Amino acid sequence: LLPMTAALGLLLAGCGREDLSVLRPQGPAAESSFDLMKLSITIMIVVLLIVFSIAAYVLIRFRRKPGQREIPEQVEGNFKLEVIWTVIPLILVVILAVPTVREVFAAGNDHSNDKNAVKVKVTGHQYWWEFEYTDYGVKTAQDLVIPAGKDIAFELRTADVLHSFWVPSLSGKIDTNPDGTVNRFSFSAPNEGVYRGKCAELCGPSHGFMEFKVKSVSEAEFEQWLASMKAPAVLPEDPQLAEKFKSACLTCHAIGDQTMGSGPNLTGIGSRESVAGILLNDDTGVDGAPILDNLKTWLHDPQSVKPGNTMPDPKTDLGLTDEEVDGIAEYLAGYTLD
Ligand code: CUA
Repeated sequence: LLPMTAALGLLLAGCGREDLSVLRPQGPAAESSFDLMKLSITIMIVVLLIVFSIAAYVLIRFRRKPGQREIPEQVEGNFKLEVIWTVIPLILVVILAVPTVREVFAAGNDHSNDKNAVKVKVTGHQYWWEFEYTDYGVKTAQDLVIPAGKDIAFELRTADVLHSFWVPSLSGKIDTNPDGTVNRFSFSAPNEGVYRGKCAELCGPSHGFMEFKVKSVSEAEFEQWLASMKAPAVLPEDPQLAEKFKSACLTCHAIGDQTMGSGPNLTGIGSRESVAGILLNDDTGVDGAPILDNLKTWLHDPQSVKPGNTMPDPKTDLGLTDEEVDGIAEYLAGYTLD
């Protein structure tokens, strides 16, 4: 089993992203799915070995010998054999079905009534994720910050089309439905760390870029994060830039305690793992680029990063100059939560 699992692992982990792999489960929900996968693969391998061995034996043992001309004895129907090859698969199907059904129900468990669970309202948008912490009055986008070890109870909706919320190393996927149905499920991340999430339902030209991060932090860090998310907004120091930022950006976005329209909340964007979910912030520039570069890339031409996204172009639609765009990028890069 080990070499087969390893081969499968290599195949599926083609992108080399450890934090985006169902084969390296990081939480109880993902672990039980992985166990189920191992069970079914084991059964498949055993069946395959037995069937191939019998086939090989029959091919060799009953092959036509040199000089043999007459047709061998013809057999039709064998009650005993037919019973065996009906009963064995039936048993296998039952062995697979019992844990699968149990897993399906466990995955759909609604923990929203659990007083200890952190409740998060997830809304899928073309092409970004909104996370609202209903008990704390905090809204954020793209980086889902959660306390390690705690149950997170999700309530999922969509603002537009069908999306699917998926953090492969933590849990299975769940759809956000345009018909108004609210889906609920929960998971927990026992260890601190950053896990990648993806939209798993084709939702438009930038579906492939609809990524997000799950940041699992200590309880204390989580509390601190919530508090700093609610702190009063700090606007750009330059009053002219502040006015531009307010009129161009804050009509949709929110920052600090400034209210927002339908765009992603920008509070603490300087502390996020990525810009727009896909431009990874990496000061070393090895696995991404420094956040300021990413913000500039995004703000100077959002459509080239995420085709079809609904943000107006800061320059052509909102009339900002190159300098103003750079100024806003610098201001946002410096908007950290520390
Ligand atoms: Cu949202 Cu694919």
